[in-house]
Amino acid sequence: MKIAVVGGGSTYTPELVDGFARLAGSLDVTELCLIDPAGPRLDVIGPYARRLMAHHGHPGTLTWTTDLDAGLTDAAVVVVQLRVGGQAARISDETFPLECGCVGQETTGSGGLAKALRTVPVVLDVAERAARLAAPGAWIVDFTNPVGIVTRALLDAGHRAVGLCNVAIGFQRRFAKLLGVEPGAVTLDHVGLNHLTWERAAYVDGVDRLPELLAGHLDELARPVQLPPSLLRLLGNVPSYYLRYFYAHDEVVREERGAPTRGQKVAEMETELLKMYADPALTTKPDLLSKRGGAFYSEAAVGLITSLLTGDGAVHAVNLRNGGHLPFLPDDAVIEVSARVDRDGATPVPAPPVGPELSGLIAGVAAYEELAVRAAVHGGRDRVYAALLAHPLVGQHEYAEALTQGLLAANADHLAWA
Ligand code: G6P
Ligand code: MN
Repeated sequence: MKIAVVGGGSTYTPELVDGFARLAGSLDVTELCLIDPAGPRLDVIGPYARRLMAHHGHPGTLTWTTDLDAGLTDAAVVVVQLRVGGQAARISDETFPLECGCVGQETTGSGGLAKALRTVPVVLDVAERAARLAAPGAWIVDFTNPVGIVTRALLDAGHRAVGLCNVAIGFQRRFAKLLGVEPGAVTLDHVGLNHLTWERAAYVDGVDRLPELLAGHLDELARPVQLPPSLLRLLGNVPSYYLRYFYAHDEVVREERGAPTRGQKVAEMETELLKMYADPALTTKPDLLSKRGGAFYSEAAVGLITSLLTGDGAVHAVNLRNGGHLPFLPDDAVIEVSARVDRDGATPVPAPPVGPELSGLIAGVAAYEELAVRAAVHGGRDRVYAALLAHPLVGQHEYAEALTQGLLAANADHLAWA
């Protein structure tokens, strides 16, 4: 069975390959194919990925190509992890909003909209080619940010897609450590939209251990998400660190002004990583890779793909159609929740109702995401403005206007219609 990785020239790819090499035991992966338009990067990442496979004794072949169609042909799963415009575009997303006093972030707010506009048409093109060339019934597993918006665009176009993010698996691992149990023993009640999620429960043997964690480890839980412990206590749950862009918006803007962006730091790390990957003696993952945000992303991917192909019915936090699960959202919204996954796809695990502390914000951002998909698919300045006006972090027309201008000016080269 062949797995294709679109954006396989990413410096993250060794993480994914390492995961497959170590963990994909129940999957008969005969070929892992890295696809990327950047040939010189593939020439470094490809041979290194091959060494990683060999290091773990994986019998499958590791191939790479700049030819998208050839790479997609006969794949049973297409992992999409591309980044249109590279780190330069990311740095732009992280800076243009600051001029209006709005958070500069690659997935949240107007930076996230810019990324969606650049990305959705490219991913839809990949998916259309995959629909023609990949194996019948092939799955698209989307890691490409903004995952909620991209997944919704894929589903709207009729593709067999599931969106995935590593935030939930990170919490599962963290909670398991604090509880002294195996990660697999913890099942989360993870709810919201991609990069707008809360952990409401952590079940071990059917018992919710989150109240115990919040009582005994409040500071340890609050620190990594950089929010006040009192906020977690009040909500009775653990928000992801992406909620900081909402709950501490102005504080984040003050920090971001004058400081190097995350994209700049990542660009430096990427240069270092590529140098390391080029060393023929390197056969394991360098420590520097763990400084990236994508911890456990390979484990999330391998777990999800195993469930999709073997139908093991395991629970994963994925992006999928709402279909009535959150009654305060339209059925066709894309949500990120704990779901049971088998060969037919993902089905949300029944969960208690979501109260107004969370539902208002979720509904506001879901409405923005609907408008963002519309803007990304059809283009047009007015659609960009409408999406920004609806975003809970923007709202005022003066900001929506200025951000629309900033976004379009910064992305003219990437938007065919602008
Ligand atoms: C987390 C998020 C990803 C995001 C990454 C950024 O893993 O879930 O969606 O791409 O962080 O990490 P970076 O190291 O690129 O800042
Ligand atoms: Mn993510």
